[in-house]
Amino acid sequence: MHHFEYKAGEFFAEGVPLSKIANEVGTPTYVYSYRTIERHYQVFSEAFAGLTHQICFSMKSNSNLALLRAFAKWGSGVDIVSGGELFRALKAGVDPKKIVFSGVGKTSAEMVAALEAGILMFNVESEAELLALDQVAQSLKKKAPVSLRINPNVDPKTHPYVSTGLKKSKFGIQFDQALPVYKHCLSLKGIKVVGIDCHIGSQLTETEPFVAALQRLLDLYHQLTKMGFKIKYLDLGGGLGIRYQEENPPLPHEYARALKKELQGLPVTLIFEPGRVLLGNAGVLLTQMLYQKNRDDKTFLIVDAAMNDLIRPAFYKSYHQILPLQERVRPEIVADIVGPICESGDFLALDRKTPSYAPGEYMAIMSAGAYGFVMGSNYNSRPRAAEVLVKDEKYFVIRKRETLEDLVRGESIPAFLTSRLS
Ligand code: LLP
Repeated sequence: MHHFEYKAGEFFAEGVPLSKIANEVGTPTYVYSYRTIERHYQVFSEAFAGLTHQICFSMKSNSNLALLRAFAKWGSGVDIVSGGELFRALKAGVDPKKIVFSGVGKTSAEMVAALEAGILMFNVESEAELLALDQVAQSLKKKAPVSLRINPNVDPKTHPYVSTGLKKSKFGIQFDQALPVYKHCLSLKGIKVVGIDCHIGSQLTETEPFVAALQRLLDLYHQLTKMGFKIKYLDLGGGLGIRYQEENPPLPHEYARALKKELQGLPVTLIFEPGRVLLGNAGVLLTQMLYQKNRDDKTFLIVDAAMNDLIRPAFYKSYHQILPLQERVRPEIVADIVGPICESGDFLALDRKTPSYAPGEYMAIMSAGAYGFVMGSNYNSRPRAAEVLVKDEKYFVIRKRETLEDLVRGESIPAFLTSRLS
């Protein structure tokens, strides 16, 4: 069952015509389908039935409070990478005992906040960070639960900007340095080892790199267990890809089957940090066609969404399908679909075969639920888009469109500039 589909020529999210949302809320607007997210979560979780596991939704992919609350309701935890994400997660009612904290540059203030909240564990990415965390924990008279993020040096075969498990990457602790760092933990009073962690990259479209990384982690697991460490958690990160265009990523149950072979009978709780696979295809970005510009050699469709709303095409050259909200017979053209921002890199699609649009018509930019709104900015002083959640026949604005006043919040003009010129 698809929750984004045409019914009698109208493009719907669940039971709501997207043009109704575009008309009432305006554009650009992100629209998410609750039932799609719910189904994605269930499918992922059911794939690992039979293995003790905890899903920690990687909230960097979409951190709207309403969605975090939905995940919390379904029993999910979250993977956070900043104090800001911790704040959002707690505000949304996520159980701190289901929060894992990843990231290469945690500050001591962030460590304090996470220790006080009582999170499940810190995924520590360097020896220097470990020492800092030890100090912070001791000063609070606490023991920080720690997993070391190991860089297994496997090639995830994905876009270089989202590859994280190669030796040259800034992430994690090199595999051959893992044992000495684990041993170092034993002498740190503020640290308690609880697990092993890895995350090798994002938008992976094969299972083999995941399995290779897991095998390296298991190797380490057995060595550590022999040395007397009690490893309770094996955190395998996120990274499962989705279909944007022609990709054929493994389905969650295929991914699970490949991992299960290696994991049978292991007395640990597995942790997964999926982001994109849960949200990516559960959201679209609605935009309105403004102008068509014809050059001798090229056609541009200029729309009201831009790289500040959805940066993925500009940043990764990534492909997002773009569909009309009203299905009708339209001549097909080849065009660049671009935003109003003053940058040549401001495009949503290049040399795209597309149905033609009249000014004022709406389009849906597909697969925009993950790494869409969250990577948005105010560049060119553009208020950030609204976000809407559809559930069955109803829709809810879960984030208002920013106002012009929002744009200047926090700014001030110092007195020496406001005094009259003499
Ligand atoms: N865990 C860690 C430690 C991560 O760094 C990430 C993503 C995830 C989990 C979730 O990965 P996912 O399941 O979503 O693949 N902005 C890029 C993606 C950056 C991913 C960064 N880390 C994009 O738009 O494609």
